[in-house]
Amino acid sequence: MILPVLLKDSYGRAIRDLRISITDRCNFRCFYCMPQEAMEWKPKPEILTYEEIIQLAEVFVSLGINKLRVTGGEPMLRRDLESLIERLARIEGVEDLAMTTNAHFLRGRAKALKDAGLNRITISLDSLTPDRFALLTGRNELTQVLDGIDAAIEAGLSPVKINSVAMRGINDDQAVDFARFAREKGVHVRFIEFMPLDNGKVWRREMVVPGEELRRRIDAVYPLERVKSENLSETARRWRFADGAPGEVGFINPVTQPFCGHCSRIRLTADGMIRTCLFSAVEHNIKQLLRDGASRDELIDFIAAVVEKKEDRHHINDPEFVQPLRTMSCIGG
Ligand code: GTP
Ligand code: 5AD
Ligand code: SF4
Repeated sequence: MILPVLLKDSYGRAIRDLRISITDRCNFRCFYCMPQEAMEWKPKPEILTYEEIIQLAEVFVSLGINKLRVTGGEPMLRRDLESLIERLARIEGVEDLAMTTNAHFLRGRAKALKDAGLNRITISLDSLTPDRFALLTGRNELTQVLDGIDAAIEAGLSPVKINSVAMRGINDDQAVDFARFAREKGVHVRFIEFMPLDNGKVWRREMVVPGEELRRRIDAVYPLERVKSENLSETARRWRFADGAPGEVGFINPVTQPFCGHCSRIRLTADGMIRTCLFSAVEHNIKQLLRDGASRDELIDFIAAVVEKKEDRHHINDPEFVQPLRTMSCIGG
């Protein structure tokens, strides 16, 4: 067998970025991310062990993946996360190790995560006011999250990025407040267009707030300058403050300005499925293969074949679009 130097899909896109969801559980109940009814968590035996995650991550990295993101659900709910981070950071070839979290458990652990080898962190935060935060997340815990953000800044997990899903009539009036927050804290706030990843529960096209609209609104108060990036596969269009204030704002516009043409991402779900697109209709069971004792070469062949099948783009804007069955909490943001 000839080892592929790099994972490439059938459209010629190099796959460099693996997102590893390590749990489907979350202590928050963001209504757009998780079903509202009592969530049935995957039974523990179905969830990849740290051992298995490391084994797979090593194979992926040997195939040219150089960027890892640990995500969930809420990854900090997994026991001894620091040990997983430490082992992922030690894999030769990993150039960037990041994590997406709700920051609720970050105070007291940010420094340990940094010391374990985590390079940077992204924190989900959709509202800056306690009442709206509680409405969105089902938890009255904005204070803990803001404290977690401070802990991440103090620990030097920089750049600290804040992900805010913008929804019309729900939180889009807070865009300028978020920009002010970016300036005051020196963080990167990214507004994400609401995507139909909630299994048909609440998403409506009218709820999508085009990133460009938010950018114009912010620019009217805090003039912005474009930050040019070399990295074509970056999801966010980035802007800095023209007056030199710290921080940035970014706009992730998958609905109005899809960026699939330069997609470098694949995903590993907590229960061991490879997803080649956020919107994939099929998943590829690498856990079964691993647990059946597949050799390294067999795993490599499987991964290469799966990547070959990566979708060219999402179909959110096409009439025949069908939402994925699993919600973001299961897929991993
Ligand atoms: P960094 O630039 O490394 O920080 O990563 P990123 O820009 O991919 O950011 P992050 O992982 O925080 O993702 C931010 C959000 O963008 C996610 O929560 C998703 O909502 C969205 N997103 C990320 N990757 C994709 C993707 O491949 N396709 C689509 N449609 N949306 C994505
Ligand atoms: N559309 C856009 N982003 C979403 N996220 C979760 N659900 C959606 C959705 N339907 C984002 C959250 C979080 C990350 C895990 O995924 O903002 O930052
Ligand atoms: Fe990549 Fe799919 Fe996201 Fe498009 S929707 S950028 S193809 S993961």
